Amino acid sequence: MPHLLEMTGIQKAFSGVPVLKGVDFSMDSGEVHALLGENGAGKSTLMNILTGVIPLDAGSVAFDGQPLENITIPKSEAAGIAFVHQELNLINDLRVYENIFLNRELTGRFGHLRKKEMSEQARVLFEELGVEIDPGAMVEKLKTSEKQLLEIAKALFRKAKLIILDEPTTALNNDEIAHLFKILRELKAKGTSFIFISHKMPEIFEIADRYTVLRNGTFIQTGNISEITPKEITKLMVGGEFFGENHYQIRELGEPALELHGFSGSGFSDVSLTVRRGEILGVTGLQGSGSSEFMRCVFGDTASTGGTLKINGAEVKTGSIHRAMQAKAAMLPADRKENSVVPDMTLLENMYLSEHTLSAWNFPIHVAKEQAKYEALKETLDIKAANPDLLITSLSGGNQQKVFLARWLNTDAEILLLDNPTQGIDVGAKTEIYRLILQLAKEGKTILVNTLEIPELQQVADRCAIFYEGRIIKILPHDEIEEHTVMLYSTNAVNAKEAG
Ligand SMILES: Nc1ncnc2c1ncn2[C@@H]1O[C@H](COP(=O)(O)OP(=O)(O)OP(=O)(O)O)[C@@H](O)[C@H]1O
Ligand SMILES: [Mg+2]
Repeated sequence: MPHLLEMTGIQKAFSGVPVLKGVDFSMDSGEVHALLGENGAGKSTLMNILTGVIPLDAGSVAFDGQPLENITIPKSEAAGIAFVHQELNLINDLRVYENIFLNRELTGRFGHLRKKEMSEQARVLFEELGVEIDPGAMVEKLKTSEKQLLEIAKALFRKAKLIILDEPTTALNNDEIAHLFKILRELKAKGTSFIFISHKMPEIFEIADRYTVLRNGTFIQTGNISEITPKEITKLMVGGEFFGENHYQIRELGEPALELHGFSGSGFSDVSLTVRRGEILGVTGLQGSGSSEFMRCVFGDTASTGGTLKINGAEVKTGSIHRAMQAKAAMLPADRKENSVVPDMTLLENMYLSEHTLSAWNFPIHVAKEQAKYEALKETLDIKAANPDLLITSLSGGNQQKVFLARWLNTDAEILLLDNPTQGIDVGAKTEIYRLILQLAKEGKTILVNTLEIPELQQVADRCAIFYEGRIIKILPHDEIEEHTVMLYSTNAVNAKEAG
């Protein structure tokens, strides 16, 4: 039997730089196939070719036994392929059902839109999926997780045989991921196939049946997930032995840098904490625990409702990002797609954005100076980009994230609020980022890292504050940060046990 999908000898270059160098990729029906590789390996590009977003330079594609030639987006959709992009692709000013029916609106005899019917069909679809989204809601009002599910619903509505999910979980919490996986399994049982791109090993091993590894635009290996280990996959991805060793070391801490007393806001309350110069505080918690809301409020994205916040001894009024930045706070927000990317700007402009928002005098921007700073940060963060004048959107997802980290390192901020900092970043680069966070702390920066990944906390955190229902339920010292203990507190199982 022919494969469901067969891509052979795919080549693609951007401005003469080869990005795919004759890649072979094939998969069968009813499979969840993990497409793996480092940042910039060519995963999204290969999928863009399959879905007609960009043309290929050479090679051939066959789907469902038929050759697919001169692929365009409509052609690929008509063949039964749907693409849930790494950067979501919904239209914010339309309603939910309008997005589902985009370009295939139901119309009446006189060309009017049958809105009620479309809305009703959308409702039925969501019900089947167990998704609670109002079909009439404006897309801009949805949470990222809901947008992600809406994209998948849209793919299903179009009766896709193959759904490509490009890093679908970067902005989802654990409950939302579990729900997504449940839906994937049900659809798989009904015969839908998936290409699943992710940098998170545990979830790859949970959901995928097969894998293909790309490195530097070439095919490396394909096989069954059950016959390989995360360590072996990592080795294939980086092309050599990988030492993800822990660089954590105890440092001497300075004066109090961030002081909170009874600090409360939307989603969290009564946080009292002192974080010192040079300290790295891990912050974690399950869905609705308030840890992310807490970080945003410290940065002034929302206003607090009670308590006090002091930075370097001076009280800072919340509710203004500009004030927080003047007090030398910086924040890498949780969701790159929604909160960081300025799509029409180059990567250099995206980098110096924060620095120049801060300068009160509107000094002219010295492009040469910025370029020099960029070159230095590019080196430190290992940003893979041909030149700083490229549009930010032409970078691979992980490399974009590195630019946003650079954006804040390029200011003289002293308090770094990092929310989900390694989203979309590959295993090797993650270790580099941990090393950088530790280095920055050593230089005296005060760092808060909000993450759901416990290994991440173990790599960097001096202490870890665990949120439960909006309050800090426990602060663990570095030595006690481990999976089981963190789970015990984040689910409040500890107190349940004591009470029972
Ligand atoms: N439109 C474009 N113009 C120029 N270069 C591009 C464009 N799209 C992708 N590239 C380059 O092609 C290479 C592969 O990018 P791609 O997005 O396929 O990587 P990826 O494997 O998806 O990485 P990640 O895990 O970071 O998302 C990168 O070096 C990227 O900068
Ligand atoms: Mg990508």
